Amino acid sequence: MATESNREDYLTHLAQICSNCTRCELHRGRTRSVFSDGNPHARLMIVGEGPGQNEDEIGVPFVGKAGQLLTRMLNAVGFDRQQDTYIANVVKCRPPGNRTPTQAEMAACFPYLKRQIQAVQPLILVLTGATAVKGVLADPRPISRIRGEWILRQNIWCMATFHPSYLLRNESKEKGSPKWLAWQDFKEIRRKYEELTHLSSPTQ
Ligand code: URA
Repeated sequence: MATESNREDYLTHLAQICSNCTRCELHRGRTRSVFSDGNPHARLMIVGEGPGQNEDEIGVPFVGKAGQLLTRMLNAVGFDRQQDTYIANVVKCRPPGNRTPTQAEMAACFPYLKRQIQAVQPLILVLTGATAVKGVLADPRPISRIRGEWILRQNIWCMATFHPSYLLRNESKEKGSPKWLAWQDFKEIRRKYEELTHLSSPTQ
């Protein structure tokens, strides 16, 4: 098994390779590749779609408005983004005009995400939005049908939820609204996290 520093070295090496990647056409428009944020030893991993303009400029995922909402939702259920989560996207380079990445772009980039998941070995994987669901679970169901459900894949508990950008476009917090449903998802993610981290703790 990889030692703690091995894991960090490995991911740093992978990020370096990614920054020079030309596996798909998205590399032509990038300012920076956007590899990850957070803690490579976190038990909770979050996957988004791909960098937007802010992320492309800064080189860190989820730093724009959607990212700030994600951070607030994590905080609201007691997670510290830097300490408790590892964050990555399905594609590491910004699609022009923030369009949805194509199947070919997702496939070209998947080896990075796959290795990130293998290195981090999260207990829980949160998939934000349809692209993350397609990219990781290859499940064609719309996000409104698949969200909120636990799916066990290769020993990792996966949960799809709405993408924070979608939540920003849907203001209502009424029962049954996307924001309300996402809040249920995040509370359930916290519950599962407690359950799994207690089970995996050698002291309890
Ligand atoms: N949306 C995403 O899916 N990922 C980001 O990093 C930023 C916005």
